[in-house]
Amino acid sequence: NWTPDAFVETTVAELKEKLGDDRVILGLSGGVDSTVAAMLVHKAIGKNLYCIFVDNGLLRKNEFTDVLKKYETLGLNVIGVDAGEKFISALAGVTDPETKRKIIGNAFIEVFDAESHKVKNAKWLGQGTIYPDVIESVSVNGGPSQTIKSHHNVGGLPDFMKLKVVEPLKLLFKDEVRRVGKSMGLEDKFISRHPFPGPGLGIRILGDVTAEKVRILQEVDHIFISGLVEDGLYNEVWQAGAMLLPVQSVGVMGDERTYESVVALRAVGSTDGMTADWSHLPYEFLAKISNKIINGVKGVNRVVYDISSKPPATIEWE
Ligand code: XMP
Repeated sequence: NWTPDAFVETTVAELKEKLGDDRVILGLSGGVDSTVAAMLVHKAIGKNLYCIFVDNGLLRKNEFTDVLKKYETLGLNVIGVDAGEKFISALAGVTDPETKRKIIGNAFIEVFDAESHKVKNAKWLGQGTIYPDVIESVSVNGGPSQTIKSHHNVGGLPDFMKLKVVEPLKLLFKDEVRRVGKSMGLEDKFISRHPFPGPGLGIRILGDVTAEKVRILQEVDHIFISGLVEDGLYNEVWQAGAMLLPVQSVGVMGDERTYESVVALRAVGSTDGMTADWSHLPYEFLAKISNKIINGVKGVNRVVYDISSKPPATIEWE
């Protein structure tokens, strides 16, 4: 009879036994899985766990500082690395979606490897791998959660990959991970966060990525997501986000003709991301959000809503 409390107790005991006085490095993504994995390891070995959280410049608005603060309140020993410029410049001029993913994955590995060298005598790499990741590790897109290992095929083996791997959530399903997080004191707001892809806004900006486009999309996404929260719709959808299209369209603003970008809003219901239906958000809500975006975000003059289901349309547009 599985209970989260019993899981925490046995897992922490096993981790203590296994890790002893060894040092562990763990990459935090801002998501539930890596956070819960870190909390378990931290409970077992305390300050011998060194967490690394990378800002790839493609996160949501304020995400890096907000989540870093959260980690600090949890007592985690976390190094925040601001690497935004490195990622944005590596992506300059690149439009192919899979190439963008590879560039982002490679840049992440470089940053993570450099940071992990600063932790002397580390023996282990902690990961938030969950059971579905183990099954889906062959999926084309890298699966719903980005683990460091999923980038295994990107060239020579970086040093941190020579570490032994510890994956305390490897046998759990997502809902079990959430229950474990809750039993360890993680608040509902954090536990019920929507999935967010590892390559972040990089694959929601269609075509080439620039710092200015990231800024625009962060504003749009922020209006959409905080609107969902305010109107009690956030937990009604499985995932939501906005796509910045490489399309400009004509509009009017006062007496002026404008020629600016189009954004697409996407919200879906799903249980595992493998199939999804577009969410029937209320028209009044969509109208309000559309107005807020067009009036509030310079560079956007048109908003459309994605009414495609998966399959055949994927959740992300790239
Ligand atoms: P798609 O777009 O394939 O997305 O319907 C299914 C789920 O996976 C997420 N996703 C990714 N997650 N790296 C990730 O970590 C990726 O490259 C990636 N591509 C898609 C997507 O956000 C959705 O939850």
